[in-house]
Amino acid sequence: MYRLMFVICVCVLLGLTTGYLLDSGVILRNVTSLPQFAIYGKSMVLVGGNLWDNNTEIYNTIVRLAGGPGVAKIGIINAASADPVSSYQFYRDIFINDYGVLEANRIPIDLNHTSNVADQATIDLIYSQTGFFFGGGDQARVIQSFLGTYGEFSPALIALHQMFESGAVIAGTSAGCTCQTANYMVKSGVSYDSLSYGSFPDVEPDHTRRDALIYGTLGGLGFMKGYVLDSHFAQRGREGRMIRMLSDTKALAKGTSYGIGVDENTAVVVTHADTNTSKGEVIGASGITIFDLSRSIVVSDTYFRISQVYLSYLTHGDSFNLNDHSIIYSPTKTPMLGHENYDAVLSTDDVFYGSSSGSTRKPEFVRIATSVFDARLSRTTYGTTYEKHPRFRVDLSGTGHDSEGWVERKGSFHSDITSYQNLHVSISGTK
Ligand SMILES: *[C@@H]1O[C@H](CO)[C@@H](O)[C@H](O)[C@H]1NC(C)=O
Ligand SMILES: *[C@@H]1O[C@H](CO)[C@@H](O)[C@H](O)[C@H]1NC(C)=O
Ligand SMILES: *[C@@H]1O[C@H](CO)[C@@H](O)[C@H](O)[C@H]1NC(C)=O
Ligand SMILES: *[C@@H]1O[C@H](CO)[C@@H](O)[C@H](O)[C@H]1NC(C)=O
Repeated sequence: MYRLMFVICVCVLLGLTTGYLLDSGVILRNVTSLPQFAIYGKSMVLVGGNLWDNNTEIYNTIVRLAGGPGVAKIGIINAASADPVSSYQFYRDIFINDYGVLEANRIPIDLNHTSNVADQATIDLIYSQTGFFFGGGDQARVIQSFLGTYGEFSPALIALHQMFESGAVIAGTSAGCTCQTANYMVKSGVSYDSLSYGSFPDVEPDHTRRDALIYGTLGGLGFMKGYVLDSHFAQRGREGRMIRMLSDTKALAKGTSYGIGVDENTAVVVTHADTNTSKGEVIGASGITIFDLSRSIVVSDTYFRISQVYLSYLTHGDSFNLNDHSIIYSPTKTPMLGHENYDAVLSTDDVFYGSSSGSTRKPEFVRIATSVFDARLSRTTYGTTYEKHPRFRVDLSGTGHDSEGWVERKGSFHSDITSYQNLHVSISGTK
């Protein structure tokens, strides 16, 4: 009786239906706050994929938010991977050998082990960790592993949420980042096809379009509220897909007007999540793009046409308030206004090109967007898609009163660490 009441209590707390749990017979425990909760509150480290083993800043941050070296017990979840066991070995070795965690444990939940979501030993293992790390692969596999058919939380996911509430960090890279949203989850699609054909909910996928934008209607694992997440972001030129995704879904049940695209080998570190001081700080190699479509306007036309989309790009040491979207730049940066390095803005005929692997150039969209703030003679530019029929033109403007660029100069355009806020973006397709 006590157990039944407690299970119902947990379910009511989490706003879920009770059937799944009562059938499973799993015992969910009360969880007490971990020591790190007093410092960081609820925390997440969301990495945009291609995380280098030697990115000490990101790995050390995950370990710190999990209680620190010698204390942290990291539960590694590779449900996204096609080969979960060897992915586990890979991350285990890094966390143990290079970053000094006390333990790294495989949480054995993946497509071949879905029944473990209601396995008592697995739930108890989750309860004994101080942080979690989700590896990469395909985010759809994570959802299939952890959620029920109608999106109900499995006991394992409820236990993960209890641990998150208690201060265990939720970290993930690539698919392990994208899957953490509480809103709709991007599953696939490239920018050009997203703009051309629109988005498809996964319950009715359009299998004929290989590169179509497909999103998961059940949403993600529910840790990051209010933002669609995406990874490998500027490197794969995913700006168009995020804009189309938000535009098509923002008015739907699980929709939001906001999105965060995380670049490779880069992380957004969220602390005090779900409070009004919730903060996201950028660390690592590149940046994050924050999308605001709360004022966006779609004009019905032959081809997709949108305006009033606002983008901010934050880089190392910058942070923003997840609640009111205000930005604080790194103290190492200064405003670009009045200190521009160039006369003319840059444009491009392949705006969603991204960048080639290992390149030290800024990805194409970031390159022209940055130029808007680093040029003396103009504050507007545009790029077009490489693909034609239709060809999309992307107009960028930094003329708004709250548009600004900030920089830490490093000696060249491509090595400068540059950020900007409130870049106005509009997109229109023409034959
Ligand atoms: C669990 O938490 C509830 C609410 O805080 C409390 O009333 C209850 O006594 C706790 N039970 C155990 C076994 O700690
Ligand atoms: C870090 O790892 C990357 C990728 O393996 C490598 O290219 C780079 O040289 C390494 N950097 C350092 C400082 O060791
Ligand atoms: C599941 O098991 C099959 C057969 O052993 C294997 O080929 C496959 O890679 C496994 N998939 C996952 C996601 O573990
Ligand atoms: C932030 O939240 C705290 C606690 O809920 C509340 O006391 C405070 O007034 C809030 N501050 C603002 C600026 O909303």
